[in-house]
Amino acid sequence: MVSPVSTLTADFNNSSSSTSSKVKKILTVPDGVNPALMKMEYAVRGPIVQRAEQLTQQLKDEKESSSVPFSQVVYCNIGNPQSVGQSPVTFLRQILSVLVCPSLINLEPSPFPTDVIERAKGILSNSNGIGAYTESPGLLYIRKTVANALTLRDEGIVASVDNIFLTNGASDGVKALLQLLIRSPNDGIMIPIPQYPLYSATLTSLKGTQVPYFLNEESNNNDKNWSLDINELQTSYNEAKRKGIDVRALVVINPGNPTGHVLSKDQIYSIIKFCEKNNLLILADEVYQANVFKPSKFLSFKKAVVDLNSDVEVASFHSVSKGVLGECGIRGGFVEVYNMEKDTRDVIYKIFSVSLCSNVLGQTAVSVMMNPPKLGDPSYEIYNKEVNGIFNSLQRKSEKLSKAFNSFEGVSCNNSQGAMYLFPKITMPEKAIQESFKQGFSSPDDLYCMQMLEQTGICTVPGSGFGQKEGTYHFRTTFLPPEDQIDNVIEQMRTFHEDFLQKYSH
Ligand SMILES: Cc1ncc(COP(=O)(O)O)c(C=O)c1O
Repeated sequence: MVSPVSTLTADFNNSSSSTSSKVKKILTVPDGVNPALMKMEYAVRGPIVQRAEQLTQQLKDEKESSSVPFSQVVYCNIGNPQSVGQSPVTFLRQILSVLVCPSLINLEPSPFPTDVIERAKGILSNSNGIGAYTESPGLLYIRKTVANALTLRDEGIVASVDNIFLTNGASDGVKALLQLLIRSPNDGIMIPIPQYPLYSATLTSLKGTQVPYFLNEESNNNDKNWSLDINELQTSYNEAKRKGIDVRALVVINPGNPTGHVLSKDQIYSIIKFCEKNNLLILADEVYQANVFKPSKFLSFKKAVVDLNSDVEVASFHSVSKGVLGECGIRGGFVEVYNMEKDTRDVIYKIFSVSLCSNVLGQTAVSVMMNPPKLGDPSYEIYNKEVNGIFNSLQRKSEKLSKAFNSFEGVSCNNSQGAMYLFPKITMPEKAIQESFKQGFSSPDDLYCMQMLEQTGICTVPGSGFGQKEGTYHFRTTFLPPEDQIDNVIEQMRTFHEDFLQKYSH
């Protein structure tokens, strides 16, 4: 049986290869390329998304669109807010416009509020403009802004510019730290399951070892919330040690992707104590720190480490792609390291200096994210109106979707406490399980998501792409589509789900 996944890949790689070439191709797949990269998987952009892109093209083609049973593809597969209609925040875009075209500063009367011009001038006079490389860890001027903002966020714990490296999105920071940690295939990194596949993919590419720990979908008090269980951490750690793995670090994603869980202060403290006891560095993925719905509260791992007077090394990642800016395409982010020796920071510096510097528009976006307009600034009101509007809408959409999923037969879903995702669990009919393997899917939730896409145009990601306990099946959806589409998305998903159960129940 040909796997639907390989068929799809073949369709997409329909490039013509010359038969008359006298030169033997070097980059032939699989033998001519790095096998670790062949093994690497990244479900968020996997075969289901590729099929969604095919369908989108079909819908644009007058002749082919009638064969598609829906009028649009709704992309719920990725936390990419502006791709599904979220508007950019005006203040940031105005500053970026001035940086891209500095002559706008001289326009009379100015089309921009005075604080926009001041911010742009500040960056221009502390750099050589957006077309010039900056220092490798990013402009000192912006790192100072970030340090001040972190000091404020962490209630006075002073952040140092020497610990801050501006990056092209959080992904570059994560990759740099993993690169530094993995010395040989025997080096292991603890990653949550389910996890954001950047971690598994990067570890595969670096030939490091994944040490999975399972998050607790059904917590003790029966509140389905994907909490983290310290006993599970210890079991997973012990098991890896028993196999001779040198476990070096623990990844925590807080708020969680794909789970939407926000760690409590007690949980964070216990994790730090666990890492202290077992000598582990903490990779704290905190890109969703601004996406925390009340009454949960965000506490940074760095602050908690200081509170506990701990020496555990921490690297915390942040990004302009998430939060309320949702500027995924601008590629801005940073990593703050803490409790790390100067020599270590020098090597991190060296890693970033190999790619010279992160992009300057991304660095600027970081500075705005960390230092938004203040009360009394000309842009304060509109900025607040825009970001509060986005934040409140995200919360409403998440509540509406999780409530709906919990009303579907055989589906249970945690209420999101933060981030941008829901990860409902499906009780998969036995016949669907058999059918999925017959069709060559690697997991029954691949079949579920592919059929949902084919029938409704809604593109989600199978739970298998994030990892899940054996015998459990999930899918991840964002709650990013525009609010006026959510009811329709829910009804289409409900009809699909009922049909799916019906189809495979006998
Ligand atoms: C948990 C998590 N970490 C890191 C990233 C990477 O984000 P970026 O590289 O766009 O900053 C993402 C993106 O979705 C994410 O969900």
